[in-house]
Amino acid sequence: MKTALASKYSPNGPKGSWLSGNLMAYRKDPLGFLTDLQRDYGGVAKIRFGPQQMYVIYDPALLKEVLLTKQEHFVKLKAFQEARLFVGDGIATSEGEKHKKIRRLMQPHFTKAHIQKYAEQMVDIVKHELDKWEPGQYRNLSDDISNMTFAIIAKTLFSLDGNEYSRAIREPYELINRMCSERMRSLLSMPLFVGTAKNRAYKAALQALDKGVYSIVRERKLHPEQGEGDLLSVLLTAKDEQGEGMSDQQLRDELMIMFIAGHETSANALSWAFSYILKQPEVLHRLYEEWDRVLNGSDVTAANYMQLTYTQNVLWEAMRLRSPSFFSGRSATADVEIGSFTVKKGQSVLFSPYAMHQNPEYFPNPLSFIPERFENDLLKRIPQFAYIPFGGGPRGCIGSHFAMMEMVITLCTIGQRFRLRLPLGHPPIEMEALMTLRPKNGIEVLVNVR
Ligand code: HEM
Repeated sequence: MKTALASKYSPNGPKGSWLSGNLMAYRKDPLGFLTDLQRDYGGVAKIRFGPQQMYVIYDPALLKEVLLTKQEHFVKLKAFQEARLFVGDGIATSEGEKHKKIRRLMQPHFTKAHIQKYAEQMVDIVKHELDKWEPGQYRNLSDDISNMTFAIIAKTLFSLDGNEYSRAIREPYELINRMCSERMRSLLSMPLFVGTAKNRAYKAALQALDKGVYSIVRERKLHPEQGEGDLLSVLLTAKDEQGEGMSDQQLRDELMIMFIAGHETSANALSWAFSYILKQPEVLHRLYEEWDRVLNGSDVTAANYMQLTYTQNVLWEAMRLRSPSFFSGRSATADVEIGSFTVKKGQSVLFSPYAMHQNPEYFPNPLSFIPERFENDLLKRIPQFAYIPFGGGPRGCIGSHFAMMEMVITLCTIGQRFRLRLPLGHPPIEMEALMTLRPKNGIEVLVNVR
């Protein structure tokens, strides 16, 4: 691998075709493309998608400039416009003052102290789902975990029973997720008003998703007493300087983001963690040892989940190798100097946690699953922004503490009750890079009592 410094001064990259540049290579194998660039070009690579020139940043010091110290010169990647079709203009997609205001409003709900009160609800939801499992059954673990993480968001943030809304939201989202990532990777996608079968299906799914989320807003407006103090009630009662509340559309956009950003990522990270645990008995052995020692057969609580350090390291390591958010990016709103090159106004920079987490300089033996590497404060020993499963800076993940507690609880609650194994002759678990990185077709497991 080239050193970051060598390439920092004159970003270079693969030639690609005269028309589409490097887009075809990216479309064919996004993860391989992003990883190879780091190996071949070091700290930063220059690529082109059609007419769009872009930089892909791998050097943590440069990324820090984009996400933190010079972040005021960047907005979310223009290519993410497609996602606005379904997530609208909420916390993850809005910019400037609008973003600052909504982030300030929501932040108190995601602090380490505040999320503690969700622990019990999280445990109950996971246990309720596990009551449906029978020893001897084959189950799609990824699907079951998605049900859990969806129900957790619905209950903790919006005081809703996830089962009632899971179909209305998760089902249309499946198709939207696929179509949206496909369209984001095309130079020219068919305008939605053209009535192709694909477009019709996409539009129907978008409408179904809208219907599901608007029905939640309507229902709560009719019965505001149903979720006192939850995030939805805060959004419903918020007023701007002119004393105006949020429109139904704004409420819909914020809810949609929380449902989508909040359930799929955690579900994927947990699925990946299980995929490694099931293949490495020594990891499961250490987990059992920790759970027996710290929990002694009881539930995880807000008071003890931080003591489950090996469990946390397993999750950190799973997110290192299989970062659910495998790439993201920003577009420059002015000419801006990064390191010693200039990103021109309108140009974009991409970054890939998936590829950066394979840098052997910070993660020796990068392709092996070694939770122990996180012991002794690894994150303090490597540069800031070298390990970024939750991004960083003012647009970093608002739900990172929530997600860590939820994942520890889910992993322990499943593992304390059931012993899972991959069926004999299980095919390799492939990666599928859609809006997030997930196991293709999920993970099938055979369930047994521990
Ligand atoms: C393992 C689980 C999760 C992972 C890996 C993850 C990852 C990320 C990343 C990388 C970003 C920043 C993207 C960028 O800079 O372009 C982000 C933003 C965000 N995440 Fe998460 N996330 C997770 C869980 C959650 C949860 C549980 C919630 C909510 C309950 C959530 C809500 C959000 C929101 C609202 C944003 C946008 C923040 C903003 O723009 O101000 N995420 N997430």
